[in-house]
Amino acid sequence: FNVAAHLMEGKLELVGTRPEALKKGEGAIVQMNSKRAGAYKDEDGKLHVVDTTCTHMGCEVEWNSAEHSWDCPCHGSRFDIDGNVMEGPADKPLQTFPMEDKA
Ligand code: FES
Repeated sequence: FNVAAHLMEGKLELVGTRPEALKKGEGAIVQMNSKRAGAYKDEDGKLHVVDTTCTHMGCEVEWNSAEHSWDCPCHGSRFDIDGNVMEGPADKPLQTFPMEDKA
């Protein structure tokens, strides 16, 4: 099962996936505490989880498996795996979910 390929096909039925189920190097939209979230598992197995609500005007960012970034379809803002702004117009980082207990 290739998470990245499914995401590229625009299938977002991955909501409900537990972030722990991701393979290293994979990102996906997941369900965290009944909330939509974006999860990425890095090569060390550490999870990076962001709120997928864009800080510009509230669209839902999507995983970019080629660039390992969260991209907003509305006005092109881009965020890194920890939610930091890579490209505007957004100027605030995505909110993150602390993952100390799950890494
Ligand atoms: Fe995301 Fe505008 S809402 S870039």
